[in-house]
Amino acid sequence: MKLTDDSNYAEQILNGEPVTLTFNYIDEKSLTTINAIFLKILSRTGNVFLLETLITIIREIIFNAFKANLKRLYFSQNGIDINDKEQYQNVMENFKEDFLYNLEDVKPLITKSSFFIKVTFKSDNNTIDFSVYNNVSLIDEEFSRIKNRIEQSKKYETLTDAYEEVYDPTEGAGLGLILMIFLLKNSGIGANNLKIKPDKTGVNVSISVPELVREKKIVTEVTNRVLENVESLPTFPENILELQSLCNNEESTLDQISEKIQHDPSITADVLKLSNSAGFVPGKKITTIKEALKIIGIKNLSLILTAAAAKKILSERYKKFELIWDHCTRVAYYARVIAKKKKLVNMLDSAFIAGMLHDIGKIILLSTDEKIINTISEITKDKQMRSSSILEEISIGISHAELGGMIATKWNFPDTLNAAISNHHSPMNSAQEYRDITNTVYLANMLSGIETRKYSYYYIEGDVLEWIKLETFNEIENFHKDLKNEFNTHLSQLG
Ligand SMILES: [Fe+2]
Ligand SMILES: [Fe+2]
Repeated sequence: MKLTDDSNYAEQILNGEPVTLTFNYIDEKSLTTINAIFLKILSRTGNVFLLETLITIIREIIFNAFKANLKRLYFSQNGIDINDKEQYQNVMENFKEDFLYNLEDVKPLITKSSFFIKVTFKSDNNTIDFSVYNNVSLIDEEFSRIKNRIEQSKKYETLTDAYEEVYDPTEGAGLGLILMIFLLKNSGIGANNLKIKPDKTGVNVSISVPELVREKKIVTEVTNRVLENVESLPTFPENILELQSLCNNEESTLDQISEKIQHDPSITADVLKLSNSAGFVPGKKITTIKEALKIIGIKNLSLILTAAAAKKILSERYKKFELIWDHCTRVAYYARVIAKKKKLVNMLDSAFIAGMLHDIGKIILLSTDEKIINTISEITKDKQMRSSSILEEISIGISHAELGGMIATKWNFPDTLNAAISNHHSPMNSAQEYRDITNTVYLANMLSGIETRKYSYYYIEGDVLEWIKLETFNEIENFHKDLKNEFNTHLSQLG
């Protein structure tokens, strides 16, 4: 089974020929082609920053259309008229149990049915139009509920306000529409470019992306607090800065540096701990600074010091969020192995450090407003989104990745590290010269995310899978299995 897409649809669309894809059944696999089309078109039109927005929106529209089709099939199978208001609620309860939560069994039924979904893409002069049509007509009640939700959503200033007032877990669909309206507003596409047109045979939902889209930055009271928190972070301690300049001085010797480190027991402990968690020598524990320096080299020591200092400042100030570091340790290890697989021999240690620090922005976000972040992670899971970044942007005004980049700038991290942190959820936004390290950390983070969340390999950007040459389901699954085992062995060796 292939995970990447090699169709020429994007080419056709960009040449002015509309492309229509028809589906009876929708799952993550069917959506990979659509993701790839968006990525290719947006890269060509210079709008890659819209990728997550458009993917999130089209997923939402397609899943709603699919749900509407399933609903009609269910009612007709049970011989019940969907317009029968008395029976509607009861039947809907069973519908969820029997159909919605049981899609594998429903697949043959819906595939054989006459219900379908058509997704059409068109592009001319740098505008992109796409639409989703499904062949069941809306009942009046459904259409007025949708119109209401749209109007309501336009009223809210922030996504979290809307979420608190409108979210109703039994209904589900409500949140999706609100989300779409916020995404359209914030991305600069505009909520008025969403059109819902029901007719006698079906419903057409379309979105036109205008030629010049300018992202609208949301600035809320939370944004300001977040920025204040970054502002208030201390600079690196003097002894770390001195050590770093010693590392950067070509005349420094190993003896000089190790002596200076040993003067400070806490730096000594940090350097040893980080060197060991990097697994420089498999199966061997590094116990002295001299040994560590011989193995990791002076240049990498500077990087290790950066990571140790950043980690220390953040974990002392924000003790509560320690779990993030467990995730980061895993991502760091994975990043190193991925870099090795890609034969990026000069980048193994930077990949490790970038993995270790990739989520520093998340700590600041969590410490500023834990409630919003929890809401965001709830919606991210609920909507099975690839990352929380886009929601952070529309509700806080800044994503944890972007924030991580700001911290990296404040602490003078090397540019490669900064790029990898800033784009670890959107490798396609990274400048070409930093693509390797960004892809590495992105992939490491996705694999780690797949272990704890319910999403699958289909969520990984096709271009990154091509880059690492893991293009089938089996290939990536086996690679991931080995990686996990290797990491667990490494953890147990560290004791
Ligand atoms: Fe992240
Ligand atoms: Fe992460």
